[in-house]
Amino acid sequence: MIFGTGMASAAGPLAAGYGDRALVVTDPNIVGSPGFESVRTSLHEAGVDVGVFSEAVVDVPESTIAQAVEYAAPYRPDVVVAVGGGSTIDLAKVTALLARHPGPLSSYYPVESVPGPVLPLIAVPTTAGTGSEVTPVSVITDATTRMKVGIASRHLIPRHALCDPLLTVGAPRTVTAHSGMDALAHAVESFMAIRRPPTASTVLARPQVGKNPLSDTLALTAAGDICANLARAVEDGDDLDARSAMLYGSLLAGIAFGNAGVTAAHALQFAVGAATHTSHGLGTGLLLPYVMEFNRPARSAEMAALAGVMGCTDPVAAVHALGLRVGLPASLAEIGVEAGQVRRLAEDSVGIRRLVDNNPVPLDVDALEQILTAAWHGEPHRLSTARV
Ligand SMILES: NC(=O)c1ccc[n+]([C@@H]2O[C@H](COP(=O)([O-])OP(=O)(O)OC[C@H]3O[C@@H](n4cnc5c(N)ncnc54)[C@H](O)[C@@H]3O)[C@@H](O)[C@H]2O)c1
Ligand SMILES: [Fe+2]
Repeated sequence: MIFGTGMASAAGPLAAGYGDRALVVTDPNIVGSPGFESVRTSLHEAGVDVGVFSEAVVDVPESTIAQAVEYAAPYRPDVVVAVGGGSTIDLAKVTALLARHPGPLSSYYPVESVPGPVLPLIAVPTTAGTGSEVTPVSVITDATTRMKVGIASRHLIPRHALCDPLLTVGAPRTVTAHSGMDALAHAVESFMAIRRPPTASTVLARPQVGKNPLSDTLALTAAGDICANLARAVEDGDDLDARSAMLYGSLLAGIAFGNAGVTAAHALQFAVGAATHTSHGLGTGLLLPYVMEFNRPARSAEMAALAGVMGCTDPVAAVHALGLRVGLPASLAEIGVEAGQVRRLAEDSVGIRRLVDNNPVPLDVDALEQILTAAWHGEPHRLSTARV
């Protein structure tokens, strides 16, 4: 991990260490930006030949993956450089995977089923963010089910994360707010995740093993940094200190959840996002306070620690208020979910075992429906009232 303003220009020398042909993956909004130019220039100066695939699409449709793989095949890159948000980095991850291993991509849906190393990847994030620059996960949209699927393998962890806050300065207000709330969800959910007995088999069977001392330390720092800086970054996108703190927080949150895993808010977002066509961070950010409230009885020590770093008495209320302040919708009803749809969304989420099984409190369809119902009304306290 390399972090700091101007560090995007380390891309060239790093890429040259793998060979002389780089596939650069980006999207149409980023390709003309000064940040992208700094990466391209550094690759040229390092003598690396560059092939640019600039058609990344949000939420990584399978058709885009096919285009990127088709572009990469005749170019035969030695290294892949991703410049963009989580969608672009995740596209680059599966492109690097399919450049080294046969398809179909669905054969890698089971956790830790990538058979060996993929093409080396240098990830340069432009949002703060998904943390994808350091995680073992690529989230794509399955063409058949139209649902998000996370492909999880240690081999998908990028070789290098180049985190340059200057590249996040152009991110629009909504993107800043949504991706920032997603980073907060990564920090909080990994901090409140299940704790598994540390045996060799639990650790080797999956890249995300549940909460542990390392992920806790990083998650807590991340939660504090993000809560202190997200509203500033949203309200003044040119505030480089706030942008920097957000990128650092999302990086730490990425390492935290890359090791610990996330829980119910992410599982539920997969179904909510598919049904409402809203962004990943809108969904995880909106659902986060409800999942925190649901898990509160099992995680009282963690709640107290979060209150400490957030400088508040009740982290659920603080996260809920922060979401509203940065412009998240107030409820699932507001993004078009019908009351009669809630049960179905719970049923669609319960099968996402990688995330559901990581929740500290066991989840069934009824439990997920209870969380969604409170979020549909926009009232986290409904869950605590239900408990009493
Ligand atoms: N791999 C992981 O570990 C992981 C973790 C969380 C989320 N995700 C996935 O990441 C995706 C969301 O990523 P995201 O929130 O970073 O957004 P994104 O990559 O989907 O980008 C959203 C929009 O913002 C624009 N954008 C991004 N950075 C910009 C900048 N600096 N200037 C101008 N425009 C910019 C993009 O062009 C795009 O239109 C989802 O598909 C989600 O499922 C992956
Ligand atoms: Fe996320």
